[in-house]
Parts: sequence; structure tokens; C-alpha cells
Amino acid sequence: MGFYCERIVPHLLDLAMRNRLLGPYRQRILGLAEGRVLEIGVGSGMNLPLYTERASEVVGLEPQPKLLRMARRKPHAVPVELIEGSAQAIPLETGSVDSVLMTWTLCSIPDASAALAEMRRILKPSGKLLLVEHGLAPDANVRKWQRRLTPAWRHLAGGCHLDRPIAQLVENAGFRFDRLQTGYMQGPKPMTFMYEGIALPA
Ligand SMILES: C[S@@+](CC[C@H](N)C(=O)[O-])C[C@H]1O[C@@H](n2cnc3c(N)ncnc32)[C@H](O)[C@@H]1O
Repeated sequence: MGFYCERIVPHLLDLAMRNRLLGPYRQRILGLAEGRVLEIGVGSGMNLPLYTERASEVVGLEPQPKLLRMARRKPHAVPVELIEGSAQAIPLETGSVDSVLMTWTLCSIPDASAALAEMRRILKPSGKLLLVEHGLAPDANVRKWQRRLTPAWRHLAGGCHLDRPIAQLVENAGFRFDRLQTGYMQGPKPMTFMYEGIALPA
């Protein structure tokens, strides 16, 4: 399992994250990032070329060294600093970030609540959390499959949970949604119920 997780999973994640259907979600959310930005789970750096001049600097946090190496090769138009680490213990000062951005990452953080509490801590009171995540669907039949598949799926897909109640987790961590859109993307329903939103410190 060690070889699979360290050598194969990063390439599978990189491949999955190149899905062209994710492009419009990335464009919309990246356009909202401003000031000092912390990107959680920067992965292979798919978002780095998409930041606009509204972002003065981007700190990218990522626990997987192999993915970080891929991210270092991505072009970017704004200053970027990449740091190895976990969202469960963010190595930044309290109240020091204007935007926290996260795309398809909360599903695979082992302790999502601890990570969200850390995001809340490092955000300025005027800051915002920008996210696109997949998670728990509203339909009972889809939820049933999300719960059935997650125990096996998370071992194959880098810790990914299909059944996380994203909006509830975010609100429980001391945020309120200023904007939230949900809906299925094209593809298998257990994997494609999306949450796209802006959350503010409550
Ligand atoms: C599906 S990938 C998404 C990558 C990237 N955000 C994107 O949109 O292309 C999930 C990412 O979450 C990262 N991740 C997993 N556990 C994490 C943690 N504790 N803290 C921060 N990131 C984590 C993974 O290493 C991986 O890069």
C-alpha cells in the first residue's frame, strides 16, 4: 500500500484533476481570490496558472511531496510560495490571510473539522473561504451508494470520502455561506455532487 500511495496515487490524482469538466468551476472560483491567498491542498498545481492580479500572493499548502514537485513546474502569473504541510496544522499566523481557497480537497483531509477550524483561525475577520468540493448528495439513493463505496474508495483514491456533508462541516466550523451553489456535474452521481461557494467568518 505504501508504494501505491506514494508513487501511484499522486499520478492518479493529477490525472483526475485534469478533467476538462472541472475547468469552468476552477475559472469561476479562482477569479474571486484576492489579496494574500492560502490554497489548501494545492496538489499538482492545476489552479496556479488561473490566479488573477486580484491575488497579490499565493501560499500553496500540500502534504504530498510528489504533488508539490509537480506544482513547482506549473506556470503562474502571481508570486507563489509552496509549503509542505497539512491543513490540520497550518503554519501561518492567526488572522493573516485574505482568501482561503480549496478545490476538491476537503474530501481527502483526514480530520476535515480540524482543518476548517485552522482555516477560520488564519483568515482575517474580513476574509473569505472560497471552495469547490464534491460531497454528500441530497438524494437518498445516491447517498446510499456514497456511504457504501467510501470505505473502499478512500483507500484507492488518496483518502477521498464521497459522503462528506460539506456545507454542514463548513458552517459547524464558524462560517456562514454568503453564496452556495450545489448540483451534479456530468459523471457518476456518487462522485459528482458539487458544492461551490463563498463562506465568511460568522
Ligand atoms: C483531489 S486532490 C485536489 C488537488 C487540487 N486542489 C486540485 O484542485 O487540483 C486532493 C488534494 O488534497 C490534498 N490533501 C490531502 N490531505 C490533506 C491535508 N491534510 N492538508 C492539505 N491537503 C491535503 C491531497 O494531497 C491532494 O493534493
